Amino acid sequence: MQNKNVLNICLPDNFELFTDKVIERGWVGDTGKNRREIAGGISKMEAHILATIITQNNVKKSVETGVANGISTLAITQAIALNQGRHYGIDPVQFQEHQGVALTLLEQHQLLENFTLCHGPTHIEAPKLLDKNERFELVFIDGMHTFDYKFIDSFYGDLLLDVGGFLVFHDLLLPSVKKLFRFIKAQNKYRVILTPELQPSLYRKGRFTAAAFIKRKPYWYFWLNGFCNLLVLQKISNTEPPWNFFNNF
Ligand SMILES: C[S@@+](CC[C@H](N)C(=O)[O-])C[C@H]1O[C@@H](n2cnc3c(N)ncnc32)[C@H](O)[C@@H]1O
Repeated sequence: MQNKNVLNICLPDNFELFTDKVIERGWVGDTGKNRREIAGGISKMEAHILATIITQNNVKKSVETGVANGISTLAITQAIALNQGRHYGIDPVQFQEHQGVALTLLEQHQLLENFTLCHGPTHIEAPKLLDKNERFELVFIDGMHTFDYKFIDSFYGDLLLDVGGFLVFHDLLLPSVKKLFRFIKAQNKYRVILTPELQPSLYRKGRFTAAAFIKRKPYWYFWLNGFCNLLVLQKISNTEPPWNFFNNF
């Protein structure tokens, strides 16, 4: 694993992410009745950040919560296939709500053999992975967006993640994710990896910090809004705190 806390988007030569074209055309599925407009997936740039983490760190095993239309799944699986690795996707409604479009997308790009679908919610599927002693170097969290479900996703994500591995959250703009970030910061087990969008100028830092002060939020609260919707953390410790440890957040 790299030991830097700044990530610059850089993919291997001649490696083009399929998600660029899929996001540009705006739909997934096929020309039949399971064709769907893309809504709520990761952006092109976020796909490039995820693929950069995987290719630069030779990540071979990853898991995500929230497969849905499969945009993040496609980017992660394509990058991990380059490392001869495997990606796992947890989703309770891939066939009911999403008509299996993520699997169709992977099949269309010959990536189905590098992917395992865990069909169920995180609180049921993640314990099964733990039970099988599966270990991961990247966990991407983009499932149900309420605080309780996000907390469960990150709790199990942490248990499944090796030290040195990456815990990445989508939707940093959501209050539930910001709250969770405050909790994670207070545990001292992760460090923030800066992406290019998470490095505001001094002027903008000042403006956002002042706004946070007025609204009685932590100083970084609005930096995140202004610069990136993806939060990249790297696990730096596996140490369990004492039984009565509590840091306010
Ligand atoms: C924002 S979408 C994910 C988008 C996807 N990552 C992409 O980039 O295309 C969130 C999805 O999480 C899934 N989901 C809902 N509840 C979940 C749960 N309890 N555990 C895991 N996934 C869940 C649903 O399929 C829902 O559509």
